[in-house]
Amino acid sequence: MKKKLICPSILAADFSRLGDESRAALAAGADTIHFDVMDNHYVPNLTIGAMVCRSLRDAGITETIDVHLMTTPVDPLIESFADAGADYLSFHPDATDDVDKSLSFIKSKGVRCGLAVSPEVSLDVVEESLPQLDLLLMMSVHPGFGGQKFIPETLDKLRTARQMIDASGREIILQVDGGVTPDNIAGISATGVDAFVVGTALFGTSDYAATVAKLRAAIS
Ligand code: DX5
Ligand code: ZN
Repeated sequence: MKKKLICPSILAADFSRLGDESRAALAAGADTIHFDVMDNHYVPNLTIGAMVCRSLRDAGITETIDVHLMTTPVDPLIESFADAGADYLSFHPDATDDVDKSLSFIKSKGVRCGLAVSPEVSLDVVEESLPQLDLLLMMSVHPGFGGQKFIPETLDKLRTARQMIDASGREIILQVDGGVTPDNIAGISATGVDAFVVGTALFGTSDYAATVAKLRAAIS
């Protein structure tokens, strides 16, 4: 049975202490860092760039960093994040002119690749590229901001995504992103999700270890 991954989204962390916050979340038992990149163009918000990813690496963070690009274009950022130590790079299919070219570019840099599917976007858009993916990021909130409520219609999409991945015979991580909490994570996990992005529901609490333990108990 593959280990289910808890992926703290540092978008919800204290931006004046991103290194400490990342270390604290990982020390609390989380598995990877989810790094939300927003360019105030693809989404109406502006967050952090490759230099911050590099700083986390220089600060000694060796765990997996999965970078979620909510930006357009994506190719120039693929270059900079690959150089900055990203392990996974995911982007939204409508943010690039050529999805397969961008996926291949990510892989040419030795980085694992993913596509991000927003709530209003059909899974049809990833069907053709699925065999190339290492990660499928299913958004359960509208991209752009943390702290939103989980969109319940996502559950059916997650079940369909799980069936598509299983039918592909490929090792593709099914990741859910947005509005995940200790109260809804068990139901989400039952759809076959492998990795859970958790921002506000983790960084908004005072005891990260207790929160991670609650999340972990609900999915085991
Ligand atoms: C939203 C981001 C999500 C979000 C998750 O555009 O992609 O990763 O930060 O944070 P919460 O868990 O607060 O919804
Ligand atoms: Zn995200």
